[in-house]
Order: sequence, then structure tokens, then C-alpha cells
Amino acid sequence: MATLLTVSVGLPKDVDWRGRTVHTGVWKRPVDGPVMLRRLNLDGDGQGDLGGHGGEQRAVLVYQRDSYRYWAKVLGRDDLVPGQFGENFTVDGLPDDEVCVGDRYRVGGAVVEVTQPRVTCYRVGMRMNEPRMAALMVAHHRPGFYLRVITEGLVQAGDEIVKLSTGPEAMTVAELDALLYLPGHSRADAARALSIPALSPGWQASMRGLLDQADGQEGNAGLETAAAPPAWTGFRPLTVTALDEETRDVFSLHLAAADGSPLPAALPGQFLTLRLPGPGGPLVRSYSLSGTPGDAVYRISVKQEPHGAAGTYLRANARPGLVVEVAAPRGTFTLESGDGPVLLLSAGIGATPVLAMLHALVASQPDRAVWWVHGARDGSEHVFAAESRELLAGLPHAHVHICYSRPAPQDRPDRDFTSAGRITAAVLRGLGLPPDTSAYLCGPTEFMQDVTAELGALGLDAGRVHSELFGAQAGLTPGIAAAPVRPPHAPEGAPGPGPAVSFVRSGLTVPWSPAYASLLEFAEACDVPVRWSCRTGVCHTCVSGLLSGQVAYSPEPVEEPGDGNLLICCSEPTSELALDL
Ligand SMILES: Cc1cc2nc3c(=O)[nH]c(=O)nc-3n(C[C@H](O)[C@H](O)[C@H](O)COP(=O)(O)OP(=O)(O)OC[C@H]3O[C@@H](n4cnc5c(N)ncnc54)[C@H](O)[C@@H]3O)c2cc1C
Ligand code: FES
Repeated sequence: MATLLTVSVGLPKDVDWRGRTVHTGVWKRPVDGPVMLRRLNLDGDGQGDLGGHGGEQRAVLVYQRDSYRYWAKVLGRDDLVPGQFGENFTVDGLPDDEVCVGDRYRVGGAVVEVTQPRVTCYRVGMRMNEPRMAALMVAHHRPGFYLRVITEGLVQAGDEIVKLSTGPEAMTVAELDALLYLPGHSRADAARALSIPALSPGWQASMRGLLDQADGQEGNAGLETAAAPPAWTGFRPLTVTALDEETRDVFSLHLAAADGSPLPAALPGQFLTLRLPGPGGPLVRSYSLSGTPGDAVYRISVKQEPHGAAGTYLRANARPGLVVEVAAPRGTFTLESGDGPVLLLSAGIGATPVLAMLHALVASQPDRAVWWVHGARDGSEHVFAAESRELLAGLPHAHVHICYSRPAPQDRPDRDFTSAGRITAAVLRGLGLPPDTSAYLCGPTEFMQDVTAELGALGLDAGRVHSELFGAQAGLTPGIAAAPVRPPHAPEGAPGPGPAVSFVRSGLTVPWSPAYASLLEFAEACDVPVRWSCRTGVCHTCVSGLLSGQVAYSPEPVEEPGDGNLLICCSEPTSELALDL
């Protein structure tokens, strides 16, 4: 019979960590006597980062005394105290390789159900003073698990834990944890896991990712967005074959293989990365493909920003015959398969990736219902006006709304544009979008935040709203207290002696310094926005595009990311790097 040895609770507090403040509830302390276990928490307990911990599906964290004994031996520690792993229940019995997701237990006056293995993050490493802890718990098959509360009631140390029923499929916590995090994911097992109703929605999404992973596709589709490997490694020379003037400050370049052989097909919405010579070192910039996917040559369309380095270089130097270095098409902002309605919404130069999608729809799905919504300042800045009009004429179920924020006197209402002003909530409401519309948005950051919120208010599922940013993506720093944001910059102190690292979206190239333990720490020192959670090669939250170059891993990640990607939390450069960050 399993026993509840200790009940621990703790409210989140601010903790100093590497010069930053972490708001965390990982510090739990044992409490005497009965404690009320409620749907969301034990009384007196709380979590600092509800994105990763707590909530109905993760109301109680369980860890076993046997694992304490194991880690004391493996880590040579004699200082481990109950609550050390951030758990609420320290138990005797209930090992991870016997407890199944969906099992129900009576503990004191409460009934609970197992919902998922624990997802380890850097905070258990902080609490243990062992940064590798998150990875070790996965690699050694001792994650612990979460419970949701079926019946609220009093619990206390010494309570017996009585099993009431076994989860369907009898999949153990250790089995499920290994299925998601360790190499060799079985589709059949992912399907089994999906048939356990008690499995938390987050884990169900990961299992669906594994189930949908294409044969032979590298990486972990349960943890990272699946994408085909890039068509070539690093940069290859392509030749400019033609230039088109689109508007006063936008021009298109056609790029072809030197020998004229057709270039690998790109998906509609993907981008290229160009490495151009610059006065202070190479300029590495990305440009969405704007032409017809599948054409033998690529077309990109560049807006020349005032004082913009790459735009100015291309404007001055791009002529038929110019050779530029180009990394393969990539990106996951691509038109998904299906035949439901599509909204292609853009502002300014953000039209480029959605124009490629429009080309694709005309070429292969002309019967789909399409809404084309575009915002420009006036007719002189309306990119691809004639081209998009011609394409839309080939779609019998197309709807068009063009907004000019400041129409010029010669711009004709109802012919050149639909309404004066920006793309507002009222414009979106007036479109009459069906609720199953898939939306693809590209434009300035704030504009996209507003449009995304409004599409949500109109009833569009968040999973169907896709967006592309022409710059750095938002960071994800779980539990770190907000601090003033600085634009990306070289790290403090003397430049490092290592190879150049280009953070392409941030427009920053800086020499690597071995003073940093990982590319993640280096990026943080440069205030480049980054996403991470475990910081030790398990969760794949830090997966980033490796446009060119090589890295070495230390520690080795639990599973390597897909081709063309890297995990920045546990890698350092061994050559010059271009990163999609
Ligand atoms: C996935 C992706 C797809 C993209 N697709 C496209 C695309 O299809 N078309 C496109 O045009 N761009 C696209 N971009 C943006 C592109 O990569 C460049 O960031 C952009 O063109 C600016 O590059 P630049 O070198 O010309 O400007 P930068 O030199 O990087 O300058 C950036 C900004 O700072 C301003 N600035 C620079 N120096 C000064 C100064 N001294 N004083 C005042 N202001 C200054 C510039 O005006 C500019 O607005 C994309 C970006 C990404 C990440
Ligand atoms: S942050 Fe978890 S793998 Fe890098």
C-alpha cells in the first residue's frame, strides 16, 4: 500500500538568479496536520508560472521517496529534504514505472487522477543547485507526475493511498515520458496515449505531433513545429537574373542557379536568407519568397528602408549577373493543406509571403474561398496591386478588401481601394469570415497583435491564426520578472575571440566568446529575444533555425533537433554561424 509521507506547500516568491529575478513556487515546505486539497491547489500552495505549472491538470505534483534515495546516491547528496523537487506529495510507493496515466487514487478525503508526467524545467535545477537536473530526471526515467483533483478533501502526512482504478491502456508515467522526450517515438504508442481521456490537453497536443510526424522526418514533432529539412546546407551562390520595380521603394529580384538548373521548390510562405557584403562585415537578412512556389527561379521583393543597410546595398548593386549567397528556403509560416476558407491579410511589404500563398491557391486550389485583405498608405505604396488583382480574378470565390490609410487624390475608391483608413476591427467584422477560416497574417508587430486579438473575438480558433514577423520573434522566459527591453547589442566587455555569430532577425553579428556557457547565454547577453525552458537539452523550447555553420553540444541533448535547427541552450559554435534569431 502506498503512503503519503509528506504534504508540502509554498507560495511563489522572487529569487535572484544570474542577475535576474525569477518568480517561482518551487520552494515547498512540509506542513503538519490536515490540508485541504482543492481543484486548483492545496491550501497555502501556489505556482509562479501558470504557463508551465499548476492549473486544474497539474494541481498536485508527486515525487517518490525511492527517487530521493536514488538521486542521493547518483548525485552523492545527503542534503535532500522533502519538497526538494518542488513536489506537493512525497510518497512511499507509486513508482513512475508502475503508476499509469488515468489511474485514480483515494488519498485521505480526496480522490485524484494522474494526468501527465512532470515537465521538468530549469527551476528544479535552481532548487537542487544542479543545472542538469531537468535532463537527468528524463534520462533516468524518474520524472514524477501530476494529479488533478476529482473530489476535494483533506489530506495529511501518513494517509494511505488507495488505488481505485487503472487508466485505460495502462501506460506508465515513465513510458509516456520516454515516448515524448527520448528518441525512437512510436506512432502506435502515441495513438494509445491519445486514447487516454485523462491525459492533459498539452500532452495530447504533443502526442498528435508525434502521430503526424512524417516518415524519416528528423527531430521531435511532439516538441517542435515539424518542418522538412532545408534543401541545402549553409549558403550557396545564386545569380540575379532580373529586377522588377514594384513601387517607389520596393523592388523584386529574380534569383537562379548559376547553371540554370531549376531551384528546389519552396513552400508558399517560406523565406530565403541572403548574405551580402557590408562595410563592417557581412549583412545577413531574410526575405520572403513572393513568386509562384515551384518556379524554377526564386523571386524576393525588398523594401528599401531609409538608411537600411541591406536594402541600400541591393538597390545600388543588384543587376542581372550579380551573384549573392543564399540559404535555402525555410520557415513554418506556410499554407496548410485543406480546402477550408483562407484569409490572407497583410500590411505594406508584409504582402510578400501571402502573395506566394495566393499564387499557390490560384495554381492548385482555385475553388477555395479566399479573403485578400491588404493595407497600404496609398496607391503609390500599394505593392503588387496589379499582380494580386489579376490573381484574384482567377479565383471565383475571392473577396477583396484594400485599405488605404491616406489615399492620394488620384486613388479611386472602389477601384484602387475599398475603404479609407487602416485595417480596423470594423473592417474585419465586415468581412463575414466563416468561423473555420485559416488566417495568415504578415505586417508590423503591433498591427498583427491587434488583428490576432480581433480575429479571436470573431470566433476564429487561435490554432488557425498564423503569423509571420519580419524581425525577432517574441521571447519566452518562463518565470523571469519583466525588465526593461533593450534593443539587441554586442555583449558588454571586450569582443570575444571566437567565430562570428549572426543573429539574423535581430540584425546583429558579434564574435563568440567562450566566457559564455552556451549560445543561449550569449544571446541573452546581447538582449536577443530567445525562448527556453529547461536550459539543458530536453524540452526543445529553445529550438532555433541554424541557417549556416556548425555547433558542438555540451551536454548532449536528450534528442537532437530536426535538420537545419539547433538547441541553443546546450550548444556553442565551432564555425561562423547564422541563426534565425
Ligand atoms: C522571416 C523574414 C522575412 C522577411 N521578408 C522580407 C521581405 O519579403 N521584404 C523585405 O523588404 N523585408 C523582409 N524582411 C525584413 C528584412 O530581413 C530586413 O530586416 C529589412 O529589409 C531591413 O534590412 P536592412 O538591412 O535594409 O535595414 P537595417 O540596416 O537592418 O535597418 C533596420 C531599420 O533600422 C533603420 N535604420 C538603420 N540605420 C539607421 C540610422 N542610421 N538612422 C535611422 N534609422 C536607421 C532602417 O531604416 C530600418 O528601418 C523579412 C524578415 C524576416 C525575419
Ligand atoms: S531550453 Fe529546453 S532544450 Fe533548450
